[in-house]
Amino acid sequence: MKFTLKDKPTVFIIFGGTGDLAWRKLVPALYNLYIDKWMPKEFAVIGNGRSKLSDDDFRETLKEGVDQFSRRGKVDNEVWNNFSKHLYFQSADIKNVSTYKDLGKRIRAFKKEWKGDVNVIFYLAVAPRFFTTIAENIAAQKLATDVAHSRIVIEKPFGHDLESARELNKLLCGMFDESQIYRIDHYLGKETVQNIMTFRFANAIMEPVWNRNYIDHVQISVSEQLGVGGRGGYYDEAGALRDMVQNHLLQLLCLVAMEPPVTFDADEVRNRKVDVLHAMRRFHAEDLSHMVVRGQYGPGWIEGDEVPGYRQEDGVNPESNTETFAALKFFIDNWRWQGVPFYVRTGKRMHQSASLVTIQFKDVPHYVFPNASNENWQQNRLVMSIQPEMSIRLQVQAKRPGLDMTINPVDMVFDYKGTYDTDTPEAYETLLLDTMVGDQTLFMRGDQVEAAWELLMPVLNAWESKQSLNFPNYSADSWGPEIAEALIARDGFHWFTLPVDKIKK
Ligand code: BG6
Repeated sequence: MKFTLKDKPTVFIIFGGTGDLAWRKLVPALYNLYIDKWMPKEFAVIGNGRSKLSDDDFRETLKEGVDQFSRRGKVDNEVWNNFSKHLYFQSADIKNVSTYKDLGKRIRAFKKEWKGDVNVIFYLAVAPRFFTTIAENIAAQKLATDVAHSRIVIEKPFGHDLESARELNKLLCGMFDESQIYRIDHYLGKETVQNIMTFRFANAIMEPVWNRNYIDHVQISVSEQLGVGGRGGYYDEAGALRDMVQNHLLQLLCLVAMEPPVTFDADEVRNRKVDVLHAMRRFHAEDLSHMVVRGQYGPGWIEGDEVPGYRQEDGVNPESNTETFAALKFFIDNWRWQGVPFYVRTGKRMHQSASLVTIQFKDVPHYVFPNASNENWQQNRLVMSIQPEMSIRLQVQAKRPGLDMTINPVDMVFDYKGTYDTDTPEAYETLLLDTMVGDQTLFMRGDQVEAAWELLMPVLNAWESKQSLNFPNYSADSWGPEIAEALIARDGFHWFTLPVDKIKK
């Protein structure tokens, strides 16, 4: 479907044009799409911000961002000059009606110049408190009445809880059609995440074993070495559950657990994902003590550098009760997954940065080899490594070469680096292209967002209403609090990590 863009002139408006997201992600992504010839012949990117910048100042600032953050490294000056002619700055306050009248004029001028249908994308790369103002003004000025060609892109977090997410959905759906609303979850744009569906549904050998008959349990682990950095103010209001689990981790879980869609149509895929969220077992107050764990990092050392504890980070309340680590055990009450635990964990300032989806298969029904041969026995395991290594490993047992019978686990590996020469596009390249093309498959639908909030509300409420007495409960450079080990050890399992020597960045 993506090829259709070539003939579709596009005006791409970024609210928060001088912000971090535009600088690090959005403009480098547009630049790379331009190099790879995905951008239409006629396009304009208008950055909105309050700074007093000329178009040239704006272009110069963005060039620094692209130099630093483009996957291709520093810009090629000639290419940049051609690309940057399409960039414009609008110095104007998002609270003023005149800002939107001016945008209307600019859009009309481009439409007149380019003729035919013009896509208009409104990208809200701003703090959530501005979403309403911007959306209302766009609607009031009738800038998005052409449903087929105008779209509004909303960054996460989408709501702070179920109630606020419902309100935001209601507000947006009152002004725009659902087909115009693109709720971003950047994990869905990652190549390795997109590949989960391909791996499952393009290989006939997967489906027969992808169920409770063969799978023992599933682990989804996203650990980060980074702390909260300069985002303490935002993070202290959010915490790991809102920041990572409600969106990225539950989306990964849905991709692992969904039923095969009939087609690759956006709504068909999203229906199957939302089915998973609906089938997930609800948490009751009495379950929480053995189904969920929270943690907060204390000070420590990471790779030789001393790092502060969470409560000492800028913008964070020194007595904060916010979790920087969360681990949960989920069940999906449906035919395919009944009784199979899904363990999910995420945390900041952990020992390793690694995102892994691990499928642990059941053991062989009968052991036929001599007892001495099984020192390293391990059940089959499929590890989908999302990042930094991009790979899929199927761990199987093999006979170690030699005259005695020794069995040990070996990996059958598909790794992107070794398989493909081409550079992998950044998640935002995929997602921005999809907004321009009008493909919502990798975006969250309103009901999906609400279902995810609904599932987590009992945990959020319990954690908010009860101060943790033992925060901080893990030190930087660890694997999180000890009780997170207990959460999974109680069932006879342990958290799986990739040995450092296996990680190829
Ligand atoms: C963001 C969170 O959505 O995802 C951050 O707000 C987190 O806290 C980031 O660090 C992780 O994204 P990635 O792509 O680096 O894994």
